[in-house]
Amino acid sequence: MTVASKLPKVGTTIFTVMSRLAAEHGAINLSQGFPDFDGPAPLLARVTHYLTHGYNQYAHMAGVPALREQIASKVATLYGRAVDPETEITVTSGATEALFCAITALVRPGDEVILFDPAYDSYQPAVDLCGGITHRLPLAAPDFKPDWQRLRDTLNDRTRLIVLNTPHNPTASVWDADDIATLRELVRDRKLYLLADEVYEHIVFDGRRHESLLRCPELYARSLVVSSFGKTYHTTGWKLGYCIAPPALTEELRRIHQYVTFCSNTPIQHALADYMAEAPEHAQELSAFYQAKRDRFLGLLAGSRFRFTPAAGTYFQLLDYSEISDEPDTELAVRLTREHKIASIPISVFYAEPPPTRLLRFCFAKDDRTLERAAEILCSL
Ligand SMILES: Cc1ncc(COP(=O)(O)O)c(C=O)c1O
Repeated sequence: MTVASKLPKVGTTIFTVMSRLAAEHGAINLSQGFPDFDGPAPLLARVTHYLTHGYNQYAHMAGVPALREQIASKVATLYGRAVDPETEITVTSGATEALFCAITALVRPGDEVILFDPAYDSYQPAVDLCGGITHRLPLAAPDFKPDWQRLRDTLNDRTRLIVLNTPHNPTASVWDADDIATLRELVRDRKLYLLADEVYEHIVFDGRRHESLLRCPELYARSLVVSSFGKTYHTTGWKLGYCIAPPALTEELRRIHQYVTFCSNTPIQHALADYMAEAPEHAQELSAFYQAKRDRFLGLLAGSRFRFTPAAGTYFQLLDYSEISDEPDTELAVRLTREHKIASIPISVFYAEPPPTRLLRFCFAKDDRTLERAAEILCSL
């Protein structure tokens, strides 16, 4: 029997495609965004502890209370906002689940949703499943900031949701306070919601500050803010994240979350709660940790024919290859993996209408030896 697909345009994600190709060809994998080093040893020890001490049954639907307390305390310290763990914080199975539940909770058939391209690839399918209509507004090199006038012209009475992502994957750009002020002014008189994908909240460089929507009371009142423990604790495979939103929005989010997963992994939630309490400096030191990796990687590429603007945040670096090749990025990414044994991500796949840029995304969440071997190859091109 054939199935009329609800997502006919969706194929295998580029991350799976490139990681598989990297494995097939024995290539250094700087494509998919995951560290090639482990999370902190004391955190891993706490997981072992909870796994072996009977913490293996369903957790609270909204998340282990101790973990929600820790998230609230971090938000108060970093962003100056008091959020109620009981009514405003929901722990989810990765940021991916939070994003899916948020979009599903809000978007009704015919509602319009704004995405900024290049857009992380999980947003559009969720909107499609809800019967929403997306407007994909391009972010242009070199700074990849929104074209605010175009956003203003696109907003209308059917606009239900704007999805934003800062620090931004795949361009590594970071919104500043002016961007937030402009957004605030643009949405002020409109009945729409904001979904802020802030999974790289702890990875911003060169003295920048992460402008979380949690800092702005006026915007928070209409926002769902999503983060990921995978990015912060070098444990992407644990798939744990969370969503913070005002009580009425949280209630709607939980209506969906309850039937998507009900709850997330119990022992890991307990372990994270302990580790957040014991080592708050981990998150605070993450920017410096990744900035050193970015600088090391870019230092090694100084003699290459790639051109670049240093990443402002995240653990991704865009490299412009126009002096090396005029192939489309999708073809070059595959050829580099097959012939030169280095895998990257072509960014055109994240655009509805790709601009004529020549950019590949490289993940530098790798140990120094991996970065050195990668740079050696890149410098030989
Ligand atoms: C921008 C962005 N949002 C969401 C996610 C998903 O996070 P998680 O692995 O916690 O589901 C990722 C992971 O790469 C990401 O880059």
